[in-house]
Amino acid sequence: MNKFVIAPSILSADFSRLGEDVSNVVKAGADFIHFDVMDNHYVPNLTFGPIVCSSLKSYGLKVPIDVHLMIKPVDRIIPDFAHAGADYITFHPEASEHIDRTINLIKQTGCKPGIVLNPATSVHYLENCIEDIEMILLMSVNPGFAGQTFIEGTYKKIKQVRKLIDLSGKEIRLEVDGGITVHNIAKVARAGADTFVAGSSIFKSNNYEKTINLMRDELAKIEK
Ligand code: DX5
Ligand code: ZN
Repeated sequence: MNKFVIAPSILSADFSRLGEDVSNVVKAGADFIHFDVMDNHYVPNLTFGPIVCSSLKSYGLKVPIDVHLMIKPVDRIIPDFAHAGADYITFHPEASEHIDRTINLIKQTGCKPGIVLNPATSVHYLENCIEDIEMILLMSVNPGFAGQTFIEGTYKKIKQVRKLIDLSGKEIRLEVDGGITVHNIAKVARAGADTFVAGSSIFKSNNYEKTINLMRDELAKIEK
């Protein structure tokens, strides 16, 4: 498993020229592309669906696509995202009536399932499904919008979940999403995260490659 993964969120990309912008961020060194799906129901914002995912695939996107579903209900759209080229599909347990069924559905479509926990959602949700998932995504902001400030209480939760993953003995990615910048990425990694979603800090920067490299320099300090 790749030790550290940087996953730019296309929520902050330029939608008038999305293919080009996403291909530029991949050339700049993005490991995954984070795909924020919002429905103006589970979260108070509206973004994009599977058509945009398959369009990016047709445009030539090769890195893994990490689909973050902020939608309710969840199940109906999962096969469509799998068909559109998703690699990971994560969902919020509060948005699914049957968490185990949703996890199995994601697996059946050939994708890697993951659970997303909001800032105030308990880690207890993981107790009965950690064996079945390949990613845990911790929200470090309330879901719905890019450009929010990282919630400091997340560090404690990252440490808690890192312990649970280590105890499980499974290869589960621990991803953190919201307010990640060059300045806090090392602290997030030190707490135990290995996968970093960054939207505005990359897409609103003048030079994607420079920003991603600065993030990698910060992460390299931990690897030593
Ligand atoms: C928020 C989304 C995030 C968001 C992160 O609901 O899930 O992925 O795009 O944006 P930044 O990095 O700008 O906080
Ligand atoms: Zn996200």
